[in-house]
Amino acid sequence: MNLNEAKQKFSELLLNTKAESREDLINFLKNSEEIEDFISDSHVQILESISEQLRSVVPCSGVLQSESIVNLDDPQTEHIDAFLFPDDVLDDFCDEGKMSRHYCSNCGSKKTQKLDLVSHSFSVWELKWLFTKILPPLANKVIMDVGSRLGCVLYAAAEYTNASKIIGVELNPDFCALQNSIIEQYNYDKIEVIQADIRTQDQLLKSCDVVILNNVFEHFQSPEDQAKCWDVIFGSLRRKGQVIVTVPSLQESLDELKGQLPDNWVSEIEWELDEELVPDECDLESLKSVHLYQVL
Ligand SMILES: C[S@@+](CC[C@H](N)C(=O)[O-])C[C@H]1O[C@@H](n2cnc3c(N)ncnc32)[C@H](O)[C@@H]1O
Repeated sequence: MNLNEAKQKFSELLLNTKAESREDLINFLKNSEEIEDFISDSHVQILESISEQLRSVVPCSGVLQSESIVNLDDPQTEHIDAFLFPDDVLDDFCDEGKMSRHYCSNCGSKKTQKLDLVSHSFSVWELKWLFTKILPPLANKVIMDVGSRLGCVLYAAAEYTNASKIIGVELNPDFCALQNSIIEQYNYDKIEVIQADIRTQDQLLKSCDVVILNNVFEHFQSPEDQAKCWDVIFGSLRRKGQVIVTVPSLQESLDELKGQLPDNWVSEIEWELDEELVPDECDLESLKSVHLYQVL
């Protein structure tokens, strides 16, 4: 049903409603929490349907053959993708024996250890939380996701914000092609995907209001290249008030590289996590690893 047809149906519904109840119906539409929930859930539904569509073209690990991931063969690590496969689906995979959350540290014994699960994307619920609870309203702002991969941050930004422009920069051409096919199908006309190394995009970084870096370099670049990528980020994001979202914290990423944050560059904005409000579908520990900064 298109908008005009929906309007027509709504007029009919009003006419068929008892005259004395029409005002109550209108007030229900204006103020009801159910309608609010419906509207916000409709974004979740769209993101879930994109996820389902991508599942049929991306392997279970979320890793493409055309990628080179650092330490992909590490037996203690399982590569997953929280956007493609939420936690309950992973539980089903474990029950069906398709994957494990543990590895045997002494083959043949019951001495098992927890695998490190590395997700290469935010989950649908983390994305909803990011754009509705963590970030401020982003009307007319320019948002960039560095390393946009499946594009889930871009689609969520299009669903939840009134940003003027949403930019994804991604090294891998196959992921760029996947993103462009979703953008076309869902008419996300504010999203632009650029296939490039972020190190060549300093001017674009300067023009953005919000820059998102989710586990972006650590599994994809050598330590030397990671350090060079961070240098470009430090050098380009210099406009007072620019907002940066990172997972893990900037400090954690730099500690791994024995690097240092530039003096007086950013301050961390503490955001409140009301654990009571976090839905079961949303992994609390993953949410806690989201850090928010503002350029000084
Ligand atoms: C963990 S994924 C991030 C996924 C996505 N941003 C999200 O939050 O769901 C990191 C992505 O960054 C890309 N990447 C790594 N280094 C990059 C660089 N120097 N320039 C552009 N993209 C890069 C990788 O190809 C990978 O797809």
